[in-house]
Amino acid sequence: MNMARSWSVAALAAGSLIGTASGTSMYAFYPGPDKGAQIGTQDPKTGDIWVNNCNAQIDGAPLFPTSTPNVLKTTNQPKKGGSIAATGWWDSQKVVASIFWHSADGKIMNGFYNCDPESGTFIQSGEFTISDTAKVTDIHPNTGLSVELLGSTAGYRVYYHDKDSQVHQLSYTTKTDWNYYGAVSQDPTFSQALASLHSGTNNITVISPKNDKDVEVSRYNTDGTWHISAFPEAIENSPTNKTAPAKIGIDPDVKPKFSLPAWNGKPGGLGAAVDKSNTRTAFYIGSDRRLYEVASINFIWQNMPNQTTAAWPLADDANAELAVTYNQGTSEAWVYYVSNSSLIQAYRGSDGKWSNHTVLPTSTGSTGGGSGSDGDGSGSGSDNSKAPSSGLSGGAKAGIGIGVSVGAIGVGLLGLLFFLRRRKQRAAAIAAEADKEQPPINLGQYHSPSEQALYYMADGSVAPAYTPQTPYDSPDAVKKATPDMNMHPANMVSPLVEMEQPPTIYELPPTNFSYELPAESVERR
Ligand SMILES: *[C@@H]1O[C@H](CO)[C@@H](O)[C@H](O)[C@H]1NC(C)=O
Ligand SMILES: *[C@@H]1O[C@H](CO)[C@@H](O)[C@H](O)[C@H]1NC(C)=O
Ligand SMILES: *[C@@H]1O[C@H](CO)[C@@H](O)[C@H](O)[C@H]1NC(C)=O
Ligand SMILES: *[C@@H]1O[C@H](CO)[C@@H](O)[C@H](O)[C@H]1NC(C)=O
Ligand SMILES: *[C@@H]1O[C@H](CO)[C@@H](O)[C@H](O)[C@H]1NC(C)=O
Repeated sequence: MNMARSWSVAALAAGSLIGTASGTSMYAFYPGPDKGAQIGTQDPKTGDIWVNNCNAQIDGAPLFPTSTPNVLKTTNQPKKGGSIAATGWWDSQKVVASIFWHSADGKIMNGFYNCDPESGTFIQSGEFTISDTAKVTDIHPNTGLSVELLGSTAGYRVYYHDKDSQVHQLSYTTKTDWNYYGAVSQDPTFSQALASLHSGTNNITVISPKNDKDVEVSRYNTDGTWHISAFPEAIENSPTNKTAPAKIGIDPDVKPKFSLPAWNGKPGGLGAAVDKSNTRTAFYIGSDRRLYEVASINFIWQNMPNQTTAAWPLADDANAELAVTYNQGTSEAWVYYVSNSSLIQAYRGSDGKWSNHTVLPTSTGSTGGGSGSDGDGSGSGSDNSKAPSSGLSGGAKAGIGIGVSVGAIGVGLLGLLFFLRRRKQRAAAIAAEADKEQPPINLGQYHSPSEQALYYMADGSVAPAYTPQTPYDSPDAVKKATPDMNMHPANMVSPLVEMEQPPTIYELPPTNFSYELPAESVERR
């Protein structure tokens, strides 16, 4: 730790060290309303994971010490420049972080950390070699990592690359422990940036670079397979995760409506977010060091407007790394990357507007540290500025108040179950137990209102909560045609298969979240 003192925030410009083939050594997650985004980034020299102070948000931005960094304790050392990913929640008293990393010896690790509200540090509470548990060995030496926390019962999904650069899924549920769950796509990715998002219990989208023009999208469907598409170009033949790579090709007959600016297919990271109108967005930093956002509005991918450098400052590196998190219920999004040798936060408010960026504060006392080119008082994320720098006491109270909802009953039950289970296990050797038992996922109040703990309790299984008769993503009547679940996917004719870019032109349903639409979308109407 003393060593770390000798070098400055400039060392945070990790992007240059990462090279083109690696995943992203940065994460961000959002544990719930008023708890603030949490971030982590790797020390490029040691591979140590540096994290924010988990008890302090300053003007809506996480406090991220750099001169004496908060080094996450790990038993299996993270690979230098390797991928990290994280999720977490508010358990009604504190932030709990569930952090994933690619270890120096090539495994996928999952560590649990409880926020100590006094010191603001994450205290290690367990570490698991999940790739061993899932019996997965062919992990790519530069694998990307992405994680989705679907709910208390449905558990986690983790995405990684195998040695052939195909993206695969690991799954954890309270019933099954960690298991290998098959490929997301057999199409090898062009580079190792990887991002995912979900809405509802099991409605998952995974994105990755397809080539130097396109991003590939694989979306989990009610038929239990992943449906593959791309933007801006289209993929022919509606492939699924069962389709051989050779058959996943660009459709030469579909003229793309736009192109991805400054995209060379090898971004240092991809980010993904979904808002309350179910609009998904992808973020990347281009070869021109600018941040770009592409959105799927009613299943039509399109470039979102560029923002000023006050809102989206230039990254220090071309194709720089970034980390993105979001609150679907409020449509807020947070983007983190290194600009002007500092970690910065770009923030989209619930009105869909981007605020001026914030330089992450590095100490509680750093008055000037909280603002970049924007004025000091009115930094970004002003919505969150009610959280004082002393942080948690106020936030904690609010959390407990809000937490008393319909979900609280479910959480209570869940707590009791785990208490009983715990008591049984305590008879067993405690040390051994710590190595075997994942801590319970107690989603006191998770970020999306559609994802109440009770919902998952009722669900109780890995299967999607909704019926097969309601296909995912049915913005129009044509797509509501029910696919025959017994039909082999290869036999499904395309009108029945849901596609990211439906062939029919339909009227867009009104959305209460109004983006400024770029020209392309107008044509689509
Ligand atoms: C396709 O995805 C499903 C669901 O994740 C999985 O069960 C199946 O094994 C995958 N198929 C392949 C060929 O990987
Ligand atoms: C699944 O997610 C997509 C993208 O966010 C959304 O448009 C769709 O409505 C969702 N479907 C269900 C059934 O939740
Ligand atoms: C954003 O800027 C890039 C150039 O930096 C340009 O190619 C692109 O068309 C712009 N996007 C929009 C939506 O205006
Ligand atoms: C970059 O940071 C330095 C201080 O570290 C500051 O003086 C300068 O104004 C910053 N530049 C921009 C463009 O924000
Ligand atoms: C945002 O930054 C621009 C350019 O630096 C400045 O003119 C504007 O006043 C800032 N807005 C706020 C709300 O701070």
